[in-house]
Amino acid sequence: MKDKLQDLVEEIKSIVIHSNDELENFRLKYLSKKGVINEFVSQFRDVDASQKKEIGQLLNTVKQFAQNKWEEANELMSSKSVNDQSEKIDFSLPSEPDFSGSRHPLAIIENRIITIFRQLGFVLHEGPEIEDDWHNFSALNFPKNHPARDMQDTFFINEDIALRTHTSSVQVRLMEKQNPPIRAIMPGRVYRNEAVSARANCFFHQIEGIYIDKKVSFKDLKQTLYIFVQQLFGESIQVRFRPSYFPFTEPSAEMDISCQLCKGSGCNVCKHSGWLEILGCGMIDPNVLKMNGIDPEEYAGFAFGMGVERIAMLQFDVKDLRTYFNNDSRFLTQFKNY
Ligand code: PHE
Repeated sequence: MKDKLQDLVEEIKSIVIHSNDELENFRLKYLSKKGVINEFVSQFRDVDASQKKEIGQLLNTVKQFAQNKWEEANELMSSKSVNDQSEKIDFSLPSEPDFSGSRHPLAIIENRIITIFRQLGFVLHEGPEIEDDWHNFSALNFPKNHPARDMQDTFFINEDIALRTHTSSVQVRLMEKQNPPIRAIMPGRVYRNEAVSARANCFFHQIEGIYIDKKVSFKDLKQTLYIFVQQLFGESIQVRFRPSYFPFTEPSAEMDISCQLCKGSGCNVCKHSGWLEILGCGMIDPNVLKMNGIDPEEYAGFAFGMGVERIAMLQFDVKDLRTYFNNDSRFLTQFKNY
């Protein structure tokens, strides 16, 4: 038996395990219940007592040896199967296309404008899109027969309720709940009953700003807006103010910037004038302050409002306003890098 066991050790030593099948065959042949080693164990009973000790030790050694060999090979096989998978990755293949989303161009511009005014100390405020007559018109000094109240301009829900026609309604909501100093920027969607074309839509986006404090003057208005356009369009921008009319500001103005495309020499975009109108502004009418509970003897304020679509058209060279809203991904995916 001793010789047989020594032969068995040599036999096991000579076996090389290459695969999981060979590993399993090894286990079945040597280590399982009906395997060769167990066979020896059952024969051990008949071994002569004088040899029991020596053969017993030898049998244990063989068993341990076979067991170790199986464990080592098993470990090798499982790490190999992991390696086999990684070897299947082909690093030369082109990668999966990246379908990450992008911001809407109007959101990009709105965020930029808000960021600039926040740096100047303006805080963000929002108001409802469905508004009553008082907040959209009356508290802003619109006379009862003003054309903006006409059915042709405004989407009325009933006699008193309409979709807001401008973000100036948020000024009113702010003035009635907060005491000066007030310095706020108010973005939002507004609605007007207009025929849809390349230059007009029945809804669009405005950003309104107000600043009310003691001794606020037109000088502050001009300087604030000048800094704003310099930051948005670049330091070389030029501005001009033209007298205008809004019921809730006095004096009122419209602000033009020098045309960025032709640098003032005249082109199609600026209709050969060298200037582009970008916002309406003015000193808040003392009557409006009074109606909203602010003493015009003590406080003064300025307000401005601009259209986001128009500024985005200038920044991104968009020719038709409708492209913002028809959800064509060929248009929308062009803004990934902003
Ligand atoms: N609300 C005006 C408009 O919609 C813009 C404006 C806002 C003008 C604030 C002056 C001051 O045209």
